[in-house]
Amino acid sequence: MLAPIHRWIWRDRERRVQKLLRFGETETDGGRDLLRAAEVTSDPLLRRLFLLHATDEQRHGAPDIGAERLAPAGHGLDDLRVEEESDDTMLAFLHLSEKSAASRFTVYRDALGADPDTQGVFTAILHDEMFHMNYTLTQLLRVAPKRHRSHLWRARLSRLWKAYLRLASAIAGVLGGLLLMIQYFVLLPAFAWIAKRAAAREPIGWSAVPPERNEASLRRQY
Ligand SMILES: [Fe+2]
Ligand SMILES: [Fe+2]
Repeated sequence: MLAPIHRWIWRDRERRVQKLLRFGETETDGGRDLLRAAEVTSDPLLRRLFLLHATDEQRHGAPDIGAERLAPAGHGLDDLRVEEESDDTMLAFLHLSEKSAASRFTVYRDALGADPDTQGVFTAILHDEMFHMNYTLTQLLRVAPKRHRSHLWRARLSRLWKAYLRLASAIAGVLGGLLLMIQYFVLLPAFAWIAKRAAAREPIGWSAVPPERNEASLRRQY
């Protein structure tokens, strides 16, 4: 349903570069978090997989030839506190992030019919994201065979809550801007009018000082 909007966003070269640059940043950030996750985990297999995953994300975020070759992201890995996660909660979170990234990249890839080069980049990245999505679920099933469903639900709710917070702060920003604009156009003109009226009542040029003020002695201060 949103395909025409995505096509419109990706059509403009400048918008495309802006979007890719932001994506690149998120990917590199996600790569850093995964490196930390590899340090923190005590599970040797997970460490290996996290390292592999981190290398993928670093590669997605790093410039290849030029700005246009910057690879995209959008996992939402950026709001992750690695130290507070255990292996199972980390895997649940990663699985959902990678899943949403994979579905978004599919949309982007389809919207980029007019730019086969960038489309190729998306296709390659999508392949990696599918792998990330699948290994995180397989590993979650291994480390938490009984509780994987509840972990996934908790991760889903936490993503929903974060999305709500992002939306709420965006709305607050818009409302704040609106209020300032109303103040600027409604309150300020009234004060400007009062100030102008007061200025018009002021006499123009030098005005004579009353004689009693000239009687003060110059020998003392008061
Ligand atoms: Fe990625
Ligand atoms: Fe990924």
